[in-house]
Amino acid sequence: MATGLIRRSGSGSLAMSVYSRLLLSRLQATVAAEPKKEAKPKTFQIYRWNPDNPSKPQLQDYTIDLKECGPMVLDALIKIKNEIDPTLTFRRSCREGICGSCAMNIDGCNGLACLTKIPSGKDESTITPLPHMFVIKDLVVDMTNFYNQYKSIEPWLKRKSPPPTAGKEIPQSKKDRAKLDGMYECILCACCSTSCPSYWWNPESYLGPAALLHANRWISDSRDEFTKERLDAINDEFKLYRCHTILNCARACPKGLNPGKQITHIKQLELAGAA
Ligand code: SF4
Ligand code: SF4
Ligand code: FES
Repeated sequence: MATGLIRRSGSGSLAMSVYSRLLLSRLQATVAAEPKKEAKPKTFQIYRWNPDNPSKPQLQDYTIDLKECGPMVLDALIKIKNEIDPTLTFRRSCREGICGSCAMNIDGCNGLACLTKIPSGKDESTITPLPHMFVIKDLVVDMTNFYNQYKSIEPWLKRKSPPPTAGKEIPQSKKDRAKLDGMYECILCACCSTSCPSYWWNPESYLGPAALLHANRWISDSRDEFTKERLDAINDEFKLYRCHTILNCARACPKGLNPGKQITHIKQLELAGAA
């Protein structure tokens, strides 16, 4: 041991040895005096449904110690999956609100599990899949219809004329670029569409807030030359006009976007075109 080595080498070293022992005993006292972390249990009631063993969906309780867990709902889900039940199924990837894959309903509100803090004031929280979606397993929903609706608005730049400078970017003024703010940030998580009552009742025929926000993103892009065609394609009683400006979508969006406002912009353009 280090103290033994010091003792063998003279009186100065003896003083060092006493000092080391003092330091050690103080350290031990500090460790002993440190209060033991008090457990902070919390129960998550999580929606479970397994297509391989089809019975009625149920809420299953999992209790974890929040003192041993990260602060976000996704941390709790990962802890449950790693330490209690590896069969629990949910989507996640980036863990920082970029991929949009961990969207789910947490205590009645749609949100991203990785950006939602574990509610600390309650002993229990309920986690269910995004509402009014077909469930594939547990918290994983079928996004096929949602993605098809996104695809239907043709979310890419469409031109009739060749780019002004061949092989280079199509220039855009700062003012025109700013018109895309509030839309380009969308991560297609579907929190908005699945919180929209109109979308619940007409999920096949109403495009929903996310797809319409993206429609407006391309309608508003100064470089796109298919504005009229885009407006004509969605000028439909169901595709567009099922939006009744209830604004659940804006409340649900984890990126702080307002799809309802973008839908109103499309309606205004449709009206102006019709005048
Ligand atoms: S504003 Fe429109 S899109 Fe948004 S929740 Fe209401 S009806 Fe749905
Ligand atoms: S608008 Fe917001 S809530 Fe809707 S898909 Fe985009 S990021 Fe998600
Ligand atoms: S894990 Fe990517 S948004 Fe939550």
